Amino acid sequence: MTEGDLRALGEQALKEIAGAVDVDQLELVRLKYLARHGGLISAGAQDLAKAPPELRAGLGRAFNATKQGTEAALERRLAEFQLAQRQAAVSPQSLDLSYPSQPLPRGHQHPVGRLVREIEDIGAALGYQSVRGPEVEDDQYNFELLNLPPEHPARDSHDTFYLEGPARGWLLRTHTSPVQLRTMMAGPPPYRILAPGRAYRRDNPDPTHNPMFFQVEGLCVDQGVTLGDLKGTLTYFIQALFGAARRVRLRSSFFAFTEPSLEADVSCWFCDGRGCRSCHGKGWIEILGSGMVHPSVLQNAGVDPQRFSGFAFGMGPDRIAALKYGLADIRDLYENDLRLLEYF
Ligand code: PHE
Repeated sequence: MTEGDLRALGEQALKEIAGAVDVDQLELVRLKYLARHGGLISAGAQDLAKAPPELRAGLGRAFNATKQGTEAALERRLAEFQLAQRQAAVSPQSLDLSYPSQPLPRGHQHPVGRLVREIEDIGAALGYQSVRGPEVEDDQYNFELLNLPPEHPARDSHDTFYLEGPARGWLLRTHTSPVQLRTMMAGPPPYRILAPGRAYRRDNPDPTHNPMFFQVEGLCVDQGVTLGDLKGTLTYFIQALFGAARRVRLRSSFFAFTEPSLEADVSCWFCDGRGCRSCHGKGWIEILGSGMVHPSVLQNAGVDPQRFSGFAFGMGPDRIAALKYGLADIRDLYENDLRLLEYF
């Protein structure tokens, strides 16, 4: 085999490579020229050994060039086929929209989050705007401005997490009521806000207590707001949440920041007030604390209690969720056990 023969073989191979219409044909071309045994170009290697010494170097160079050129051309053509294949795979013609899909695991809202949203929606219909306050508070907002000076006995019921180190002097809010102050101090009345969020108390965890829990604070301050407005608003919220057939009962209570203070009960939605296990035989379920905003709280916030009055309430959406879904243990809502959460 001469250098000329090799060059001719190489050109012929390039033509056939260019003419191959698919990967299989291309493979046949490769075998025809480059198969270790019987490949037309490969055969040149044996001739190399037999060639006269003075021609051997030139023939060797021609052999290598032809072989490498052919291999490179094969590789390029193969890459072309692969690209075309990938493009075909994503082309609109190859996309069958009627093909049944793999079912995706479906996420959904956490029952507490869902209830908070429900409460916010009900409030929005009454003109209540949702706001958020910080979970790390100072004593002023969490206690003092709410009529709870350092020695006030009612502080005992707020077993507080105090922060240490560089955050010393701060605490984790024990309720969402500090948002009342933050709202009123941020601008002039009127106010109609709902403030959902986490609160923290050093309670021992048990089926009805968790050191972290949720509250939704409500505040309405305007000229001429009365206890009747409080009762009407609570009734509206409670019936929207638990059904139009529910009755609302207000009981006198005590909070330092409201006067008068009232606790609201809803007639048990399991037994319709007859008395059952869920309401401990009472026919009523305690749902929230409320009252008319204490004049000195208004004063502390820079709102004139002679001109303005208002009411506030605080409810526990996790408690309500546990009751609504019949959970025996409120802590189940915080374990994030998907088997339980998926059940809702
Ligand atoms: N902050 C009170 C609590 O956590 C609830 C409350 C809010 C009472 C607003 C009255 C008015 O117990």
